[in-house]
Amino acid sequence: MQIPVSEIHEIIDREADDEGSIISALEKVQQHYRYLPKEALILASQRLGVPLSQAYAVATFYNAFSLKPKGKYCLQICMGTACHVRGSPQLLDQMETKFNIKAGETTPDHLFTLETVNCLGACALGPIVVVNDEYSGQMTVQKSDALMKRLIRKEGLD
Ligand code: FES
Repeated sequence: MQIPVSEIHEIIDREADDEGSIISALEKVQQHYRYLPKEALILASQRLGVPLSQAYAVATFYNAFSLKPKGKYCLQICMGTACHVRGSPQLLDQMETKFNIKAGETTPDHLFTLETVNCLGACALGPIVVVNDEYSGQMTVQKSDALMKRLIRKEGLD
């Protein structure tokens, strides 16, 4: 995936002009590209006067940041204890099979990323699956199948 450096410049310049922090600059880039290209870390550190090592430390410390490109749809399966005992491993298996990727990977067409997360703080509603920022609780294999089919249909892939 080739990203125009001028676009990254624009985003970071805007943050720098607003006296934004390295975190806010990286947040904007992450929101825009769904990950942090290495050019963004270099530009943000130069433009905001922060050592590159610090930009990298911020990018790797917060879970909200990713150094790897993510899919258009990021599916997170909660593997915390409450969700685990209610069936999240089966949901993960089902999604890995459907998309033919493992947790932590993205489909080659950059549409779907699968991730596991720890407790999302809504244990009573487990098992929980989050698609981008949308939570779905009390997931079952049937509901998860319908969810995946809906996303696939939305992309015209069925
Ligand atoms: S264990 Fe999944 S929300 Fe708490």
